Amino acid sequence: MNEPYYLAYEKRYQAVYSAGAERWGHSPDDEVLYHTLKSWVEENHLQGKSIIEYACGEGACGVILSELGCNYHGVDISPAAIEKSKKLLEKYPNATVEVLDMVKESVKEKFDGALDCMGFHMLVTDNDRELYLKNAYHSLKENAPMLFFRESYRKDGTHHGVVNSVEEWAQITGDDYKTPQLRQVRSSDNGGIVEVLVPFVPARAKDRNGYIEEFKNIGFAVEKFIEMDVSISISYSASIYVRKAVR
Ligand SMILES: C[S@@+](CC[C@H](N)C(=O)[O-])C[C@H]1O[C@@H](n2cnc3c(N)ncnc32)[C@H](O)[C@@H]1O
Repeated sequence: MNEPYYLAYEKRYQAVYSAGAERWGHSPDDEVLYHTLKSWVEENHLQGKSIIEYACGEGACGVILSELGCNYHGVDISPAAIEKSKKLLEKYPNATVEVLDMVKESVKEKFDGALDCMGFHMLVTDNDRELYLKNAYHSLKENAPMLFFRESYRKDGTHHGVVNSVEEWAQITGDDYKTPQLRQVRSSDNGGIVEVLVPFVPARAKDRNGYIEEFKNIGFAVEKFIEMDVSISISYSASIYVRKAVR
């Protein structure tokens, strides 16, 4: 069977680590990420509570949430990233991680909160996005909050029609997901820079109404929509605060 397109990150992580880089994604030192999570935990009284992070990558949010006193469970489809996050979270007894496809699999436990940091936008078909949001919704206790941090966002000009496959998405955007491009990442040994060849990975930006409609269709109440400043992680993004509404 063909690999799902959203497994592209596994190859990226492997290429990055083989080149001697420390990490690809967010660092626990990201100040905006830290302050956003701190406020979210405080406002929702999540200290000492259980939080699941979807598409957790290399565990940066796991470190921050553990330091903030939360019980953390991170899931990601990439075994290389989960291996990395396991090492990073070793010293936190209340932090666990596992390999899981958030589109096709769900967790059994119900959590007090959920986080997605640049994960949702990796899903490009309407079907995958809906399946994931339903899984996330069902993994939450009633009234529990979920934060989508730095998701790819455009004020306008996003595609409004249904997308059925990654091939269709590549045609709509004109993006090339095959040809490797040279990117620079921080080296693990000396803080220098190493160069790595990685292809562009599929991602889907939405506008404000596009995101809000998707969340509402699942049953989430949308509480805040914040346009984010340009960062080294992503140029145009939004953070969206939602809650599992009681039906
Ligand atoms: C842009 S990275 C963000 C990683 C991390 N949250 C961070 O901010 O550094 C996107 C992540 O989504 C993960 N991902 C993509 N599709 C997934 C799926 N279906 N299930 C679980 N994780 C997935 C990738 O493996 C990758 O780690």
